[in-house]
Order: sequence, then structure tokens, then C-alpha cells
Amino acid sequence: MALSDYKTALVTGASSGIGWATAQALAARGLTVHAVARREERLAQLAETPGIVPLTLDLRDSAAIHRTMGGLEVDILVNNAGLGRGFEGLCTATPEQIDQTLETNVTSVYHLLRALLPGMVERKRGHVVNIGSTAGLYPIISSIYGGSKGAVHMLGPNLRLELQGSGVRVTEICPGRVATEFFDVAFDDPAAAAKVKDTGIEDLRPEDISDAILYALDTPWRVNISTLEIVPNEQSYGGMTLAPVARD
Ligand SMILES: NC(=O)c1ccc[n+]([C@@H]2O[C@H](COP(=O)([O-])OP(=O)(O)OC[C@H]3O[C@@H](n4cnc5c(N)ncnc54)[C@H](OP(=O)(O)O)[C@@H]3O)[C@@H](O)[C@H]2O)c1
Repeated sequence: MALSDYKTALVTGASSGIGWATAQALAARGLTVHAVARREERLAQLAETPGIVPLTLDLRDSAAIHRTMGGLEVDILVNNAGLGRGFEGLCTATPEQIDQTLETNVTSVYHLLRALLPGMVERKRGHVVNIGSTAGLYPIISSIYGGSKGAVHMLGPNLRLELQGSGVRVTEICPGRVATEFFDVAFDDPAAAAKVKDTGIEDLRPEDISDAILYALDTPWRVNISTLEIVPNEQSYGGMTLAPVARD
């Protein structure tokens, strides 16, 4: 079940960043790619590439997901749409920041899977690619975003168990920092976004992640790439943080 066996894909969050690069890469390999996002004009621009079919949809609208996905036959589902709101901390986050992050990063993934997986199982052909994050593997002081990506991380292996014997494959890609619009969306204050973006290190490019997605999709049918962690050479994790509490 290599990439050449798949005919159609659905990529969420295709209007920018990793999703844009992935939709382009899949279309270049001859697939029909349903490209999902909210920004219609961006999708129209993307759809100038042959093979890309724009699908304007707010993934926080679960009923719309089920309405729209009903008749679609999809071999590859790339659950990529996502964002991080409330990075300033849970104690100051607004209810909307919590809902927006969890509904986009987690709830919509479940509804998309519910809508599209049964067809894959029936056809005995399918590949789910979930875009997690290193924030779902290690603590980076982001209880809302990190918690949402932690949920994505445990979704994959549980799905693998549920799908045993179906032939449907499940892959999670966990990127570190990628140069996209992610931090511009995360912070309302452009100065705060710039502070997080301008670190002096060379971040990954969206193509680094779409290359990894295509690698996982293109392996022979006997192979399931379960989890891939990909970080910039200049980003690493660990160490010890000590923060003494001021005593009275
Ligand atoms: N950039 C990083 O450093 C990094 C690191 C690790 C993981 N990731 C993950 O990678 C994935 C892609 O992010 P990116 O870095 O490529 O960021 P990005 O450039 O901001 O792209 C995010 C995409 O998600 C879409 N989206 C957001 N809310 C949506 C909604 N309600 N309905 C439909 N589409 C929605 C956006 O489209 P519209 O605004 O047009 O709807 C956009 O296409 C995310 O899951 C992110 O968490 C990113």
C-alpha cells in the first residue's frame, strides 16, 4: 500500500504552512487532494495547482464536518489543522482560547475520523496522518496546546489497536519549530509573536514535514510508520528546572 496505491487525500489546514506544502506535494504525486481550511481566497490560490480541490470549512463546526464528508472517498487523511491559543498560561486564558485550541486540535480530528474511517476500513485501504507536536511529547509550558497535542499523541496508538486487521495505517508526525504562521495566530500582540519567532535558530521549513509525511505514505504495505519526531538541529529538550517557592 504505497503512495501509488492511493488516489485521493484530504488535508486539513491546507491554506498555509505544513498543510499547504503537503497538499502541493500530494498533488504533485498525482493524487486528488481535498484541501480544507476557512480562508477561501487562500484555498482558491492553492487550487490553481492541478489536482487540488478546495473545501472551505470551519472544522470547529462538527455538524458541518459530518454533512460535508458524507459522500467523500478518501484514501489519505492528513489531520493537520491546528493552532495554539492561550500560551500565556491557563490561569489567564479566556474560555474562547481554551475552546478554540481543543476544538480545532482534538475534537475536529475525532469527527473527521468518525466521518472518513469507516469508508477506509470497508475498502481496506487508508492512511491516517496526524500532525502532533513535540509539545505533545515533552512539557514546554503550554498546558492548553501541549495538552491538546498530548491527546493527539495517544489517539494514534489506540487507533492502531482499534484498526488491527483492517489494513488502514496510522502515522503521527511530531514536529518541533516550523517556520509557518503558527505563532502569528497564537499571539494577538505582534511583538509577542516576534519574540517567540526571532530566536536566531534556523527553524524547520514546511517542506521538511511534508517530505516526512510522504515518506510515511510511500512505505510498502507491510510498514507502518507510527511516530516520527522531527526537530530543528538547533532545538533540543530536557534539562532541569528548579523554582523555589517564596516562603513566608
Ligand atoms: N509551526 C510549528 O512550529 C509547529 C510545531 C509543531 C506542530 N505544529 C502543528 O502543525 C500543524 C500545522 O500548523 P502550521 O505550523 O502549518 O500553522 P499555520 O501556518 O498557522 O496553519 C494552520 C492551518 O490550520 C487551519 N485552521 C485553523 N483553524 C481552523 C479551523 N477552525 N477550521 C479549518 N482550518 C483551520 C488554518 O487555516 P484557516 O485559518 O484558513 O482556517 C491553517 O491552514 C498544526 O496542527 C500545528 O499545531 C506546528
